[in-house]
Amino acid sequence: MASAENQSETPLGQERCPGPSYREIVLKDIGGVPPQMLETEYRFRGDEPIGFERYTSTDFLRLEFERLWSRTWQWACREEQIPNEGDFHVYDIGDRSILIVRSPDKKIRAFNNFCLHRGTQLKPSNSSGNANRFTCSFHGWAWSTSGKLASIPCRWDFPHVKDEDFELPEIQVDTWGGFVFVNFDLKAKPLHEYLGVMTTHFTGTWDLSQRYTEIHVRKRLPANWKAAMEAFLEAYHVFKTHSEALRATGDANAQYDVFGDHVSRFMHTSGSQSPHIAVQQTEQEILNFMIGRKFSSGVDIPQVPDGQTARDVYSRFVQQQLKEKYGHDFSDFKVSETIDSIEYFVFPNGFFFPGAHKPMVYRFLPHPTNPDECTFDLLFLRFAPDGQATPPPAQPHDVDIHESYMSAPGIDQGLGYVYDQDTDNMAAQTRGFKGSLRTEQVSGNYQEIRSRHLQQTVDAYLAKP
Ligand code: FES
Ligand SMILES: [Fe+2]
Repeated sequence: MASAENQSETPLGQERCPGPSYREIVLKDIGGVPPQMLETEYRFRGDEPIGFERYTSTDFLRLEFERLWSRTWQWACREEQIPNEGDFHVYDIGDRSILIVRSPDKKIRAFNNFCLHRGTQLKPSNSSGNANRFTCSFHGWAWSTSGKLASIPCRWDFPHVKDEDFELPEIQVDTWGGFVFVNFDLKAKPLHEYLGVMTTHFTGTWDLSQRYTEIHVRKRLPANWKAAMEAFLEAYHVFKTHSEALRATGDANAQYDVFGDHVSRFMHTSGSQSPHIAVQQTEQEILNFMIGRKFSSGVDIPQVPDGQTARDVYSRFVQQQLKEKYGHDFSDFKVSETIDSIEYFVFPNGFFFPGAHKPMVYRFLPHPTNPDECTFDLLFLRFAPDGQATPPPAQPHDVDIHESYMSAPGIDQGLGYVYDQDTDNMAAQTRGFKGSLRTEQVSGNYQEIRSRHLQQTVDAYLAKP
């Protein structure tokens, strides 16, 4: 598979950034490391260039809808959005629209959201609510929340319509981690098999079903859905794009893993300096920098005791801050899972962060017709206050293509600024996909392995007629 001349003796893909690796750093944390974070899974997957056409072509986008989105498990909503009988949520992907419903037997079901009379969409895109019937707004045909035909105005005119032939078509639905997943392929393998290591890694403190949606931002992005995702699949860009964080952020020494067909992961540190920073700071300097940057003035910055690191102290500090804000005890979280960026990707478009301080979930949805645009759902999942009722989930807040994330209520302003930096890159890259005289890109063998894996998985789906 290798096309480039290998300039070193090291097998392709085995070169790593000089200095301590992610694994070496977390192994020094006081209190240990969750065992799943010590797993490593990398292999070289080729170094051929990747063409820009796959991001810009409407034919490619159409083929993705036809062969990829029609066969993959994709998360449609959170279970907490439809807790009661009759609650529904509409999930659209491309031209398709799905009505996700809590049926009378409490089961979650997923129906085709189009009328079987003359095709009208039943519930509006992205809507949610509660109903005991789904009634078409055109002539009034109605279905029960179990998908059974409930009534037809002027029934006498339709002797040829048999109730049993006019139930709303249903697609596969299942849940994991508090998310409702759907799959149009009735023969697709079960969700839990598809999710691979997610089902064993996301247990205990990582169980996302125990959390609720504190913030939900829905942002239009100026990029193809795959390019937008790729901006979040590597930490290579931190050096240039988010350079203000390098004094206390690991980047070139991040760890990348690919687990089977559908899952990949990266992990990079908070509280240790980037390998790009030549001057070695003291642990106290790193801690001062981090707390000074992220927390309002007036906070007392603790001392780093002998034998401890900035990471150890920062982790306890963050746990205390989170406890004060959210009323939940985080002391059973290890240092790494408290403060680091731990990001799992589930093909085709879901990102899940189990960490306490960075508890994000991402979803990228392609635009139905424009390959240069997508929608990004950004959620923050939090634990409910100990011993108290779980707050209701946040409603999505829309942020338009040129608007800043910082306009979203409740979002951390520093983080909003970081996401804006990523958006600027996307717009410039989309421009390059169309105008560049060179029509393909090159990828790093290690740091960009997750993008290559993504593209190879896309190709595998598109290759199946
Ligand atoms: S199209 Fe729906 S009732 Fe006629
Ligand atoms: Fe970024």
